[in-house]
Amino acid sequence: MVRYVTVLSTEIPDSWKYAGDGWGSSLHRICSRTGSFPPALAHYFVKRYSRRGEVVLDPFSGKGTLPLEACLNERIGIGNDLAPEAYVITRAKVNPVTLEEVKEWISRTKERWRPESYDVDEVSDDVRTFFSKYTLRQILAIRDLLMDDDSDLANFIKAAMCGILHGPTRIHLSVPCSHAFSMSPKYMRRFIKKNGLRKPKREVLKCLLSKVERVLRNGLPRVRGVATMKDARRLPLEDGSVRLIVTSPPYFNMQTYAWDNWLRLWFLGYDYLEVKNKLFQSESRQKFGSFMQECLKEMYRVLKDDSACFVVVGDVKLNGYYVNMAEMIAPIAESVGFTVARLISDSIPRSNKHLMYIKEEDGVSRERILELHKGNPVQNDEPVAWARATVEVPA
Ligand SMILES: C[S@@+](CC[C@H](N)C(=O)[O-])C[C@H]1O[C@@H](n2cnc3c(N)ncnc32)[C@H](O)[C@@H]1O
Repeated sequence: MVRYVTVLSTEIPDSWKYAGDGWGSSLHRICSRTGSFPPALAHYFVKRYSRRGEVVLDPFSGKGTLPLEACLNERIGIGNDLAPEAYVITRAKVNPVTLEEVKEWISRTKERWRPESYDVDEVSDDVRTFFSKYTLRQILAIRDLLMDDDSDLANFIKAAMCGILHGPTRIHLSVPCSHAFSMSPKYMRRFIKKNGLRKPKREVLKCLLSKVERVLRNGLPRVRGVATMKDARRLPLEDGSVRLIVTSPPYFNMQTYAWDNWLRLWFLGYDYLEVKNKLFQSESRQKFGSFMQECLKEMYRVLKDDSACFVVVGDVKLNGYYVNMAEMIAPIAESVGFTVARLISDSIPRSNKHLMYIKEEDGVSRERILELHKGNPVQNDEPVAWARATVEVPA
C-alpha cells in the first residue's frame, strides 16, 4: 500500500545528482566518517529551503556536512551529535581556524614537545597494532598537548589528527588501512602478518600540516556556526528558532558508530564502549519507533512555522527482510504534527557507502528522503552551485 507521493532524486531539476563527483569545499574532507550524506545533497536543500542569515540544523550531524554547507552559504549552521568525534569534526567545520594559526601552533609544539620521553609499552596492544613506536610517541605527545585544551584551535587540530590517524596514504600515520572507519585490531594483526606490512615511521607534524593545507585550500566559510554534543531528544534550542532541518538519524539495525571510530575515540581520550552505551542503538522496531517519535517531536518544536524538515533514511535488512524505514517513520512524523509532503527515492553507489565490511546484500542500497512540512514552506529560487544556466531561445 503506497500512501505517499514518491519521486526519484533524478527527476528533481538541478538535484544533487547533477553535481560532479567529489563536489564540495575541501573543508568537507577534514575527516571521513561512515554514514554521511554528500555535501551536494546538503547544498541543494540549504539553497532551496532557507535564506541567508537563517538557522539550519542537523540534530544528528555526524561529520558536520549540513552545518558546514549552511555556513558556506551564509546561513547559521548548527550541528548536534552525541558522539564525541562527530562533535569535534562538526565544530572544526563550523568554527575553523586559519592556516597561519595552525602553523604557529606547530612551531610552538616543536619547541616544547618531548616525544622521546613517552613509553609506548604503556599503550594497549590494540592501539600499538596500527603504529610504529616512532610515530606513536609523537601521537602521544600531541594528544597530551591537546587533551585539556578546549579552544577552537585545539579542536581543529584534534579533527585534523583524527583525519590522518589511520588510512592508506603517505600522510596517514598508521599501517595502510581504511580511512573511513577504525578497523578491528584482530583483523589488522592477521592482515599485517599475511601481507608482511611495515608500520611507517612518520613525521607527524609534517603530515598534520600537509593535511591542514589541503583542507583549507578552498578558504573558510564567512559565517560561523554552532556545534553541540547533546541527545537529539533534548536539543538546546528555543521553540521556533530553526528555518530548516536536514538530517539522517541512526539507521535501524545498522548502528556501529562507536566501534567504527574506536581509534579516533582513543585519541580524543574516550573509551568506545562508554560512547556506544550513550548512542541510540537497537534492533527493536518498537524502541526505534519510540526514539524517532521523541526526536521528531523535538524537531517539530524547534522549527519555525512554514518550514521543512528532510530526513534521510535507508532500506535496511533485518532477519532476511528489507525494512523500509521511511514508511516506518512517516506515520510517526504525522503523529507529532508534520505533513508528509513526499518521499524522494535516492540510490547510493556502493563506492559511497564506506561499509566495505558489510556484505552487499546486508548493506543499505537505497536511501529515501522524507520531506516533512510544518505549515507551508515556500521554495527559494536561489540557484544551486551546479545549476545549468537557462538559455533564452528567441521566439
Ligand atoms: C546516519 S548518522 C548521521 C550522519 C550525518 N548526517 C553526516 O552527514 O555525517 C547518525 C548519527 O546519529 C548519532 N547519534 C546516535 N544516537 C544519538 C542521539 N541519541 N543523539 C544525537 N546523536 C545521536 C551518531 O553518532 C551518528 O553520527
